[in-house]
Amino acid sequence: MIRNQWYVVLESRKIKRKPVGLVRFNEKLVFWRDEDNKVHCIHDICCHRGASLSKGCVHKDMIACPFHGFEYDATGQVKEIPALGKNYEVPKDFRVKAYPVREAYDLIWMWYGEMGSETDELHFFDDLKSDYFYSGFSEVWPVHYTRAIENQLDVVHLPFVHKTTIGKGMGKVVNGPVVKWSENRMTFYVNNVEDHGQAALKASEIKNYESLFQLQFQMPNTWQNIISDRVRIFAAFVPIDDHHTEIIIRMYQQYIKVPILGKFLGYISNYFNKIILHQDRDVVMTQIPDRTDLKMHEKLIPGDLPIIEYRKKRNALLNLDVKTNHET
Ligand code: FES
Ligand SMILES: [Fe+2]
Repeated sequence: MIRNQWYVVLESRKIKRKPVGLVRFNEKLVFWRDEDNKVHCIHDICCHRGASLSKGCVHKDMIACPFHGFEYDATGQVKEIPALGKNYEVPKDFRVKAYPVREAYDLIWMWYGEMGSETDELHFFDDLKSDYFYSGFSEVWPVHYTRAIENQLDVVHLPFVHKTTIGKGMGKVVNGPVVKWSENRMTFYVNNVEDHGQAALKASEIKNYESLFQLQFQMPNTWQNIISDRVRIFAAFVPIDDHHTEIIIRMYQQYIKVPILGKFLGYISNYFNKIILHQDRDVVMTQIPDRTDLKMHEKLIPGDLPIIEYRKKRNALLNLDVKTNHET
């Protein structure tokens, strides 16, 4: 897992008044909103005798364990032990791990790194920041996050996996694709055509690639499909554990802004996106090995370039992390 990155980990609407216990990054976590509506996240295993804090309740900006009432602040420090009286000074090592959390664009973002090391900027897609209306849903796939992500970078599969939906009648020959990076954001340009016996074009042979169909992946875990100037499909791939990934899907659109009509359009779009997503899921669940790496025994083809590029970037960020932690 790449550390020191802001990850989308949850939809905002999933955290209301009660604390929520979830597994993310193989860790048991509790999320809660304080009285000022600010979201916090700490480990969901009480340092006293191991009960789940997510079964407890919120007191002002703290969360109280349901077992013996230890109260934790947002940094994971126990501030009160009721059995020892409210004036008892709690030792500093009565604490659990905490993560920085932000809420933006109706999403909860978690800094998978140390408290205080977080950067200011959340790398959300600029063009979705305003003036779009969205509808969406989330679901859990029983796959490693690398397989879920790479499925959305795969430009070769559409006429096969989606032959009854979005890939119907689509050409099977994959020209390119052309891949461009801007920092940790990859844009890939797709040009699938009919097979008339011609060779697939190399990426370097494609002129005017910017006029082609475009998709983007932002490290570490968000993606968008630029359907048109006014319609986008957004996805976030949330690592749960080694065998599960939550996928958050949204359709953003600028056509219909009347709430009731927008809701109806959202309903239809969710229905079709679920069909398409399940076509993907049924194949991705069968992939062996269950996770990917830069060096592995797959026979990749030029059409797999976005996947290869993702693996390279992921590896570079993982190595950077190892090096940084080694040096400090
Ligand atoms: S187990 Fe949490 S206060 Fe005792
Ligand atoms: Fe697909």
